[in-house]
Order: sequence, then structure tokens, then C-alpha cells
Amino acid sequence: MVIPPPEPPIYVTQPYLPPLEEFIPYLQQIWDSKTLTNGGPMHQQLERALCDYLGVKHISLFCNGTIALLTALQALDIQGEVITTPYSFVATSHALLWNQLTPVFVDINPGTFNLDPSLIEASITDRTTAILPVHCYGIPCDTTAIQAIADKHGLKVIYDAAHAFGVEDEEGGILRHGNLSVLSFHATKVFNTFEGGAIVSPDAATKQHIDHLKNFGFTGETSVITAGINGKMSEVNAAFGLLQLKHVDRAIEARRQRFERYSEGLAGIPGIRLSTDHEMAKANYAYFPIVIEPLYPLCRDTLYEQLRKNGIHARRYFYPLISEFPMYRDTAHTPAEQWPYATHLSRHVLCLPMYATLTEDAQDRIVSLICDATATPFDQAALLSQSSIIEPYVSASVATAIATTSG
Ligand SMILES: Cc1ncc(COP(=O)(O)O)c(C=O)c1O
Repeated sequence: MVIPPPEPPIYVTQPYLPPLEEFIPYLQQIWDSKTLTNGGPMHQQLERALCDYLGVKHISLFCNGTIALLTALQALDIQGEVITTPYSFVATSHALLWNQLTPVFVDINPGTFNLDPSLIEASITDRTTAILPVHCYGIPCDTTAIQAIADKHGLKVIYDAAHAFGVEDEEGGILRHGNLSVLSFHATKVFNTFEGGAIVSPDAATKQHIDHLKNFGFTGETSVITAGINGKMSEVNAAFGLLQLKHVDRAIEARRQRFERYSEGLAGIPGIRLSTDHEMAKANYAYFPIVIEPLYPLCRDTLYEQLRKNGIHARRYFYPLISEFPMYRDTAHTPAEQWPYATHLSRHVLCLPMYATLTEDAQDRIVSLICDATATPFDQAALLSQSSIIEPYVSASVATAIATTSG
């Protein structure tokens, strides 16, 4: 019997929306104050509330995470080459290009999906001024090792923490690491303000400089000190953030439950590697990546298509790698073989739908679809085509998979 796909489709994420009636009083306040932007009362309240929630001292709100990244690079006057990861959303590297900086891509650790610190030093040149790591999927980078390298070579560190809202290590919020951390509050994120972002600064002077930069460079009514940008967050977005903050712990707890359900349902399926064993004091369960390994009978793209046909829109985050987009081919002067793990994961990863209101039925259906495929014969052509990606790492395991499952 063919089961019809769920209606409506299940997307990789769905924004968390508190009850509309709870938002109306905030809107009323904005209507009463007639202050719509330019650091009004909602904006000020949200900055204070986020400092408390995230355990940081200084935060500057932005209209989105990309403009926050651009501004963070400007604020520290970064020049020349910046070491970063090819395994991220394009905004990470686009922010470098917009600042006329050269991204130098370094491979990731296949266990954490984050920049591998042991490979960074080999890519440092006399033009390198900074490292731009990403806490991918909200999994913390190896901040100690990265800082040690930065100190040794006099480099700045800006963390792209777009996925890492509320994540903590043993000593507190991970946004305290590096010279600056940049958040995104896009609709797809654990904490959203429709669109939005922020920069976490270590001191008041840096925050003030960033606040000038995001407001055209104005320091007073008639003084402009630099060619700033308009990166301000509006009052409506800030108000929505204040309301979201009241719900965010519940939303993260709901995500945790869904994370556990997937982890139990998918445990032990041959060829499905879960990403569940990261040590962190507090996770935010932003994503649920699975890695499709050779023991699974379908290649990643076939599984992706099968899920889609069944109304499940998982996403291949992050495919292609940033370094594979045309505008990076010239700048990515390190040969692609230098990042084999990023390339491999980009071909094998699938992020399953993950959000606070994802139903148990939907999750069980997704798990069944992934499980049922283990009964299908091996797609040997697809497996062999995967093997060309990172020789000889994959080809050896593909050969084992075919040998152990065929016949
Ligand atoms: C890793 C990463 N960096 C930066 C951004 C850009 O943030 P925004 O969409 O708020 O501009 C995103 C996603 O949206 C992201 O996933």
C-alpha cells in the first residue's frame, strides 16, 4: 500500500511562533511610543535581556547576522587573509569578500564538523590576520586550541556563532570566546526575531565602536567618524525578540525531546552515523545532522530524494561547500584536496527536520522511511560514485560495504 505524503510537507525547520495575542501588547507599546527604530525602548530592553540570558556583558543588535558579520570584520579592521571553514552557510565567507578579504579554507574535524585546529597553522602566511571559525550546528569549536594558535601568531578570532544561541561549555556561554562572536536571529534559528543578528563584544569600548558602525558611523547629531552601514534592528523585531525570550527555554526543551526521539529511533541503523556525543554543558539542539556512510544501501542524494517524494524536506547542509561556488574558485587558492573531510561530509550529510513543534508522528514517519530503505538492495553505482570523492578513505569502506552485503 502506498502511503500518501503528509500534507502540508514537513520542512527542515519551522519558526517558533508564540501565540499572536501575546505579541499585541508589544505592538501597542510601539504604536504608543511612535519609536520604530534607532535604538528605541524595545531595542534597549532586548540588549539587556539577551546579556542576562546569554551571560555576556555587551551585545549589539543587528538587522541580520550577515550585516553583523560584515561589521565585526570592520570593527577589528581585519585585513589580508582570514582562515575559515568551507563547511558553512555562504554568509560566513561572503562577509569576507564584502570586506575585500581573502578566505583561506581549512578542513574540518569530521567528528565535530568544525575547523580542525591542528590544520590551521599550515595555512597561516604573513598576510593572515584573523580566524573565522563557525560553531557548526551549535557544536562548540575547540576554542582553547584556536585561541592558542591566535595568541601565538597574533591573530584575531571572530566566531560565527549563528547556530550557537544559548550553547554553553563547562565554564559558561560559548559566546565569550574569541575577540567577537556573531549571532543570527533568522527565522530558521533556535531564537528568532524574524530577521536579526547580534555581535557579542568583550568590553564597552568595542561595543560602542560597533554601535557607531551599525548606525552609518554617527557618533552624534552632526559627527560621522567612519563609513558605517545601516545595520540597526527595528523595534518590531526587538519586541518579538523580547517575547521569544520568554518562550525560548521551553522551545529548546521541546527540541531536546525531539533530538532524543530521533537518537533512539535511528540508533543502530547500519550506515547512519548520528552526531550525538558532543560534550557541552548545554546544547540548543538546533539541527539533527546524520551522516550516510557506505553501510547504508542508498547514497545521501537518493535518500534525500526518497524523503522528498514522501513530503519530508530534509536539507543537505552544507552542500555544496562554500569553496565550490563559482565566486570562490579563484579565491580558494588552496587545492580542494586540502579539505577532504569537508568534501566528504558535504556529500554524505543530511539534516533532518528539527523544530520545537515537530510531531511524534512526523518523526516516527521519518525514522521509518530511513529504516525501511535498509531493506532495499545496495545502490552499487551510487556507492562507487561516492568513492571518487575522497580517495582512498571512502573507496576502502565502500568496497567493504559491497563485499559484506552483496551475495
Ligand atoms: C553559519 C551562518 N552564518 C551566517 C548566517 C547568516 O545569518 P543571517 O541569515 O541572519 O544573515 C547564517 C544563516 O542564516 C548561518 O547559518
